[in-house]
Amino acid sequence: MSNNLLKGKRGIISGALDENSIAWKTAIRVHEEGGKILLTNAPLAMRFGKINELAEQVNAKIIPADATSNKDLENLFDGAMEEFGGSMDFLLHSIGMSPNVRKGRAYGDLNYEWFHKSLDISAMSFHRMMQIAENKDAMNEWGSIVALSYIAAQRTYPDYSDMANAKALLESIARSYGYRFAKAKKVRVNTISQSPTVTTAGTGVTGFNAFIDYADKLSPLGNATAEDCANYIVAMFSDLTRMVTMQNLMNDGGFSSSGITEEIVDMIYKAQENNKP
Ligand SMILES: NC(=O)c1ccc[n+]([C@@H]2O[C@H](COP(=O)([O-])OP(=O)(O)OC[C@H]3O[C@@H](n4cnc5c(N)ncnc54)[C@H](O)[C@@H]3O)[C@@H](O)[C@H]2O)c1
Repeated sequence: MSNNLLKGKRGIISGALDENSIAWKTAIRVHEEGGKILLTNAPLAMRFGKINELAEQVNAKIIPADATSNKDLENLFDGAMEEFGGSMDFLLHSIGMSPNVRKGRAYGDLNYEWFHKSLDISAMSFHRMMQIAENKDAMNEWGSIVALSYIAAQRTYPDYSDMANAKALLESIARSYGYRFAKAKKVRVNTISQSPTVTTAGTGVTGFNAFIDYADKLSPLGNATAEDCANYIVAMFSDLTRMVTMQNLMNDGGFSSSGITEEIVDMIYKAQENNKP
């Protein structure tokens, strides 16, 4: 269903790897709502991913960029402005990767070179994008910038390891740059904290199936899907949310405000029954 919420708007969507990616679903929804898109992903992901299929579907150009490279990002923003014939209205940062999580390193045994990489790829890249966008005057007034976060920024999930620290930094950057961009250009900057979602990045975390199930049972509305997240991003890119900035917005079915639910109580009772001699 389309309400033309993004008619006449244009912008960059990063991080669409395959059809499960939150960015992939977002590109489809933004396109449906009338937005013009330019897609980007890491050069390596371009080779393994299916981004060309998506580009065809949403009629978008692709410019590869490693989000840790200023040179690549400069090239991305120059190319996007050329493609759009001027500055843009929205930007989605949907990028995350931790070599420590990928390689199963415990939090007490981190490889610090990899830790740097986790922070650079998953958080500093958000600052880089905004600094380059500001320097190139690439955002229109009342534009909207969104990055994707996870509740591990506030609460501890042992297997999320250094990604938790990266998400805390990402959310902090949204507040600091949100202030700056609001003053400079009336551009808003927010993070959306999404329920656990079955994607390549999500399933890289050990115990993912258990905590997706736990989150679902602890959320009165159940887990938010990637499609739900895409819809929220469309709302954040639209003119209906012009005064929302510097926020970490929960898209989690109520998880973050729930203490316990009947489903969790049932689960515990059942486990106790099963353990009776
Ligand atoms: N899946 C979840 O459970 C979940 C929950 C909350 C937040 N998030 C966040 O949502 C965002 C998108 O992840 P997803 O779940 O759609 O998974 P995904 O694996 O589909 O997307 C992650 C993307 O990051 C890209 N990327 C990695 N390194 C890069 C680099 N150096 N330069 C440019 N791009 C790079 C990958 O190519 C990929 O497209 C991430 O920030 C993730 O942390 C995911």
